[in-house]
Amino acid sequence: MRVKLKDIEFSSPILTASGTYGYGHEVRDMADVNQWGGIITKSVTRHPREGNPPPRIAETRSGMINSIGLANLGVEKYCNEIIPSLNELQTKVIINIAGSAMKDYLETMEMLESKNGKHVGYEINISCPNVKEGGIEFGVNCEMTEQLTIEMRKRTDKLLIMKLSPNVTRIEDIAQAAESGGADAVSAINTVVGMAIDVKTRRPKLNTAFGGLSGPAIKPIAIANVHKVFKAVNIPIIGIGGIATAKDVVEFLLAGATMVQIGTMNYQNPNLGIQLKGELSEYYSQNEIEKTEDLIGKVEYHSN
Ligand SMILES: Cc1cc2nc3c(=O)[nH]c(=O)nc-3n(C[C@H](O)[C@H](O)[C@H](O)COP(=O)(O)O)c2cc1C
Repeated sequence: MRVKLKDIEFSSPILTASGTYGYGHEVRDMADVNQWGGIITKSVTRHPREGNPPPRIAETRSGMINSIGLANLGVEKYCNEIIPSLNELQTKVIINIAGSAMKDYLETMEMLESKNGKHVGYEINISCPNVKEGGIEFGVNCEMTEQLTIEMRKRTDKLLIMKLSPNVTRIEDIAQAAESGGADAVSAINTVVGMAIDVKTRRPKLNTAFGGLSGPAIKPIAIANVHKVFKAVNIPIIGIGGIATAKDVVEFLLAGATMVQIGTMNYQNPNLGIQLKGELSEYYSQNEIEKTEDLIGKVEYHSN
């Protein structure tokens, strides 16, 4: 089950996805958080954000749409109130950062770096579809992605992961920009732009009309994006999107992911990532797979 990203060893390839597991401590009474391969925290921004007005989540068939809008405490409070509790976790912690301008991202990272927390890395959200200023401007532009990655790289020796959006024409180009900027890994995907309408009121179900679709409904989109990225870059990929079973994890690994994240399904079962670790281990022994690396990118097909 052990996997390495850069020089960091994770006890399992299964991580929590940002925004779906708080900062780890909220679920302590329901799950043994330390059994996850690692925790990726909710996006933190330079300044506190209220997020979008409600309603900002709606259930859909096989998933949900959200327009939370990066509600968070802001990095100052995060450093004082969240980092101490993250330091108590036994599992690996990766801090997710979002921003609207280069300066925001850089200042946020500098403040986090100055804290000497136990966290092993950063996931940079350049793909939030729910706010104009959610970094998506970076995530749809190769030059901006590369430039942001270069600047972030200068400021940390910790693991640097750029989180990609599926809401682009060619995700592989953005992944290559992150790679040439010095990212250690990319994660894919963030949510897919979606909309739902209440037919009685004829009003959108979300206050912002559009939101980000997540959950099992997006898994095939995520698998396709992970595989496109796998064919384009040499750095590891963390696959995200609709994972609900151990077979889903295997599918992501075969498509080219080295690790995975679980998001929406945590709302149904905050122990899912821990259970899947056990099921994955069983799958490995039943199928004579010695280690995770033996599956990565091993999808077999005849390309035309
Ligand atoms: C309610 C909610 C809040 C989210 N907040 C964030 C966030 O703050 N930062 C981020 O990078 N991704 C955020 N995401 C996206 C998830 O991390 C993940 O990329 C996406 O939901 C796809 O995975 P899933 O289908 O397993 O949920 C959020 C997703 C949901 C459902």
